[in-house]
Amino acid sequence: VSAEKGEYRHFMQKEIHEQVRALTDTLAGRVDFEEGKIRIPQLNLTTEKAKQINKIIITACGTAAHAGMVGKTYLERIARVPVEVEIASEFRYRDPIVDENTVVLAISQSGETADTLAAMELGRMRGAILWSIVNAIGSQAMRLADGYISMQTGPEIGVASTKAFTAPLVDLYMLAIVLGDMRGYLSDAERRKLVNDLRLVPSLVGECLNREDAVFEVSKALKDVQNSMYLGRGINMPIAYEGALKLKEISYIHAEGYPAGEMKHGPIALVDKEMLVLAIAPKDPWYDKMISQIEQAKARGGKVAVIATDGDTRAAEIADYVFWVPDAPWYLTPIVTVIPLQIFAYHIATLRGLDVDQPRNLAKSVTVE
Ligand code: G6P
Repeated sequence: VSAEKGEYRHFMQKEIHEQVRALTDTLAGRVDFEEGKIRIPQLNLTTEKAKQINKIIITACGTAAHAGMVGKTYLERIARVPVEVEIASEFRYRDPIVDENTVVLAISQSGETADTLAAMELGRMRGAILWSIVNAIGSQAMRLADGYISMQTGPEIGVASTKAFTAPLVDLYMLAIVLGDMRGYLSDAERRKLVNDLRLVPSLVGECLNREDAVFEVSKALKDVQNSMYLGRGINMPIAYEGALKLKEISYIHAEGYPAGEMKHGPIALVDKEMLVLAIAPKDPWYDKMISQIEQAKARGGKVAVIATDGDTRAAEIADYVFWVPDAPWYLTPIVTVIPLQIFAYHIATLRGLDVDQPRNLAKSVTVE
């Protein structure tokens, strides 16, 4: 097994570093940069059907659900389709409003999560169009679907999902472009710009990975924190959930993710000098609002770490710690901001002497309810 880890100490670290390759493979064969087009034949989608879609319900568990939350912004903004994101264990027991023009889109690394499969079956029973974004080739979630997108990341071993988070983000972005194009919502120039930005993905992710040493330094300083609150807004709000999940599941530090605007509705009461407030504040359309919320957390005495875009002196002045990320088109910022949070969780857990690949009480794939 150690050979399979190559130069890395753990599968999680290896898989974090595999993200450049995984995302390069995600683009390969689907993106036509010359024509500015995305092609995903496995979706089995016609233009006529694409125009009839009245709603997409994304359903998933854990990390995959967080990817779906980012996907909601992509699909609504780029394709103008209404999107709901439903935790699969909830969706499967609801009485959802679904018809033959509704897509139920499952996201699953393993393709075998019991609740996600049950959610797909409910969609099938109600006559919905069934799609999946799935990593394990030949898994149930792939076979049950009318159309699918394969993640192309290769097997993921570490229980804490990393490359199977960023790959579906790119898949959802590509799906939004396909739908926006077929539904006639994208001009030629808009589509070309969105497609062309995908060229940046591997190098942006590579740049974040090159900064592992800087993240390690912050991890050493913060390894003994006991409580943390991750804040994000807009397209980076799900990254607050995902960052908090990564930290809690492998380091056993209490971590909560919150939409930053909700801070004053309760969580701010928890902020004191013992609380790490980790704010995701890249240069996206929600940046100014994030800064004012970071200032409020700081004013209450919290230890503040900020994920900030290179050169952002305003964020650096307020923060006690900064994770720098390269400037990226705002749609792609979640793919960039999540990387330091994965690395941070990894190093905190290893510094605490924990088994990051096999955290207590958790399974890689939850195949029973
Ligand atoms: C488990 C894993 C998570 C994963 C979730 C959903 O909880 O520990 O890493 O996000 O299941 O798994 P799936 O295979 O459906 O993506």
